[in-house]
Amino acid sequence: MGSRLFSPFTLRALTFQNRIMVSPMGQCSAEDGCATHWHLMHLGNLAISGAGAVVVEATAINPSGRNTPVDLGLWNDQQAEALEMPLAFCRRHSSAKLGLQLWHAGRKGSVMPAWERNKLIPQDRGGWQVYGASDIPYPGRHQPRALEPDQIEQCIGDFVAAAKRADQLNLDFLEIHGAHGYLIHNFLSPLTNTRSDRYGGDLENRMRFALEVFQAVRAVWPSEKPLGMRLSTTDWVDGGWSLADSVVLATRLRALGCDYITASSGGAVPEQNINIHSGYQVPFADEIRREAKIATIAVGLIIEPRQAEEILARGQADMVALARVMLFNPRWPWHAAIELGEEPSIPPQYERAHPAMRRMDFLKAKRDS
Ligand SMILES: Cc1cc2nc3c(=O)[nH]c(=O)nc-3n(C[C@H](O)[C@H](O)[C@H](O)COP(=O)(O)O)c2cc1C
Repeated sequence: MGSRLFSPFTLRALTFQNRIMVSPMGQCSAEDGCATHWHLMHLGNLAISGAGAVVVEATAINPSGRNTPVDLGLWNDQQAEALEMPLAFCRRHSSAKLGLQLWHAGRKGSVMPAWERNKLIPQDRGGWQVYGASDIPYPGRHQPRALEPDQIEQCIGDFVAAAKRADQLNLDFLEIHGAHGYLIHNFLSPLTNTRSDRYGGDLENRMRFALEVFQAVRAVWPSEKPLGMRLSTTDWVDGGWSLADSVVLATRLRALGCDYITASSGGAVPEQNINIHSGYQVPFADEIRREAKIATIAVGLIIEPRQAEEILARGQADMVALARVMLFNPRWPWHAAIELGEEPSIPPQYERAHPAMRRMDFLKAKRDS
């Protein structure tokens, strides 16, 4: 029997050729929100990896939704145009399905990239006012303003406008970033949302923003294309957002037409106490899949092909998303295919790297010598 990792997976009208997804990874390499040569190399390199899906990094829906000044954006036509080239390369040279993650960074924004230690950028030096569910700063970051109701509405409109641009770019699927302490998660968590209006208080109210964003995007995102959401399935803090809350939210999202949940965790507050180990978030994907009856994508320290295979074979998730291991070894899916007895998907320009071809080259050289 063939491996589960290399079996196809269908959501709506879209079939991924295998169950390996390249997780979205912010590159902090955009100019005015526009993709650059780096994105051509980065996305192109990952697309020819043989993965079934590649997700374009967290892409800001408006200028104040950026984390750093060099984040990708999709709030104007120039930004959409700049993404065309890397996406065209990926389509031309691979069969990976292409997704994009829409994002508002919330109260964590207006900082330098991680490799500059997220240094704060003040407003008089190119920074911007940051917004959150409430006016509580992330420790060591800027003072946010709580979004007013009309700004919430505007924000939802910005998600919608960016989703329309993503559709015009012919992206195959879309993911809304509801994790890692950014704006949507900031509304969900009782640790960061102390609002007293209809967007704060009980679980129903704290979920309202996430559900409204999802519903508005689903209304404009074509019905044949999958739309998913990434969640921090727990805050890893007593009294914070919990896995049980995530099951409730996932169930509600499914009813609104959500196709999958990527089960990440953490990022709301620095007091989080994460029990980190190989595949540590897999049980969250498993629980949400079983309880909310929705497809899930497992992510986080999934390193080995056989580990990925077992997660899928045990029915704990429908796909696996890989991030750092794909940066370290962008040919991971080729190696995994060979290890699991499958045929790697190698572009013709590189096919002589295939072990069988290398052997043929070797035999031919021997014969001719
Ligand atoms: C360089 C880098 C950038 C990342 N950017 C994003 C992002 O844009 N959106 C997101 O949801 N997660 C982002 N992540 C988190 C990854 O998608 C992934 O969830 C995390 O790294 C755990 O998976 P891994 O153990 O396979 O690396 C990023 C991770 C890295 C290493």
